[in-house]
Amino acid sequence: MPQKIKIFDTTLRDGEQSPGASLNIQEKLIIAKQLVKLNVDIIEAGFPIASPGDFAAVKLIAQKIKGPIICGLARCIPADIDRVWEAIKYAKKNRIHVFIATSQIHLEKKLRRSKEQVIQIAVDGVKRAKKYTADVEFSPEDASRTDLNYMCDVVRAAILAGATTINIPDTVGYAEPQEFASRITYLKEKVPEIDKKGITISVHCHNDLGMAVANSLAAINMGATQIECTVNGIGERAGNASLEECVMNLKVRSDYYKKACTEINTSEIFRTSKMVSDLMGMVVQRNKAIVGRNAFAHEAGIHQHGVISARETYEIMHAEDVGWEGDGLVIGKHSGKHAVESVLQEMGYELTKDQIASITAKIKELADKQKEVERADIIAIANDVTQALTKQEQKIILKELAVMTGTNITPTATVKIEIDGKEIVGASIGVGTVDAAAKAIKSLIDPSLKLTSYSLKAITGGTDALADVAIVVENKKGEKFKASALNEDIVKASVEALIKGANYAMMHKTPKKIRPQDIGE
Ligand code: KIV
Ligand code: ZN
Repeated sequence: MPQKIKIFDTTLRDGEQSPGASLNIQEKLIIAKQLVKLNVDIIEAGFPIASPGDFAAVKLIAQKIKGPIICGLARCIPADIDRVWEAIKYAKKNRIHVFIATSQIHLEKKLRRSKEQVIQIAVDGVKRAKKYTADVEFSPEDASRTDLNYMCDVVRAAILAGATTINIPDTVGYAEPQEFASRITYLKEKVPEIDKKGITISVHCHNDLGMAVANSLAAINMGATQIECTVNGIGERAGNASLEECVMNLKVRSDYYKKACTEINTSEIFRTSKMVSDLMGMVVQRNKAIVGRNAFAHEAGIHQHGVISARETYEIMHAEDVGWEGDGLVIGKHSGKHAVESVLQEMGYELTKDQIASITAKIKELADKQKEVERADIIAIANDVTQALTKQEQKIILKELAVMTGTNITPTATVKIEIDGKEIVGASIGVGTVDAAAKAIKSLIDPSLKLTSYSLKAITGGTDALADVAIVVENKKGEKFKASALNEDIVKASVEALIKGANYAMMHKTPKKIRPQDIGE
């Protein structure tokens, strides 16, 4: 009987730490619901001490998600651990994940603590977490660069303090498969408490050298029974082990991984990948294993011939095994409100009647122009509608926008806005019209607001594509406000997103749609 490998999904925690990624609370809940369909065993929902937004998201997920264990991350610091518990206590199955760095470089340069002190901090952290829940995971951060015997000492102490899962992170993606596998073997030999107490050995590998999946699977061969991974392999720097790659290796090569299997519903893989990519605004590379657009495209003539005569010639798995649906045509111009509603419901959106009507109208408008509306379009439109500000919330209103550009002419923008009933006009030049318009707006609003992220996506093909602009503005306290806008015109979409972001910052709140009470808490 193969050993079940637990899939610990950290898309909403480590994945959300990816440079350029950020999700609001509703988006996190939508992804968590999809992770339930995927049938992951554990959802690491966030790092509650990091910000009030992280805390609210973990709490909401703990309240709403049934099935997987809901886990929150904490340093071995009392305030962190207490905060995790405050957020996850609502979940029927919950876990506190505590960590502290153990490599010499971290001890000396980051923690400035002796080895003995770190063991004591780890023990105290595990004991504090244990007071709240029986399910406590401990990670010696940077384990793969930690002295082997010291790592074993820390792990033993954490187990004796009550940890039930020991996670071995390759925090900086430094390990090589053979070496990482030997580390797991050594640990199991030197710490007999692991087997005696039935402790789960987990691995958490980063991909700095492109080895995250290989290292995770090598550890599985040596008796690890939990993989920490993320959808599309997103995460800090080069990312984490990709969930879909780990799972499909174990499935497709079950002849090799005889002793291991997962309970992942692989037919949900593609949909989950697409959702994470769309909501995070992080494009999946075309040739990415399992979920890339080219993964099941047999374009070269010789391959096509082989595939037509016998699929197995070039296909080691079938597209339908991972629920591949190409670009996912979902809605046509004759689809009604119910079709839109059920697609959105299936994605996890909880919307009011007015919002559904408005989304349907916009989808029809788009379908009239381009016949097919894809999942990405629907998500962008739904986000645009749900983020709309009420009249009272619109402190800043765009009244006029004019841009001028051409060859041998400096791009210029003039903007008229109304702030609290007073109209003001600003103008600026820029490297392009978007830049000029952004500078013109900046000259009129709170100068301490900084635009820290701007991304533009054409959500449909062609020159008449809808432009989806997502921005993040930051106030002087470092608080971030995310906003997005859709328009056929890139400059208008950019200006609308900027004005929305400035309004959120002025109201000193995150968009209306991300308040828990708006999604039924
Ligand atoms: O990479 C890492 O070491 C981590 C830990 C918090 C597990 O993310
Ligand atoms: Zn990590």
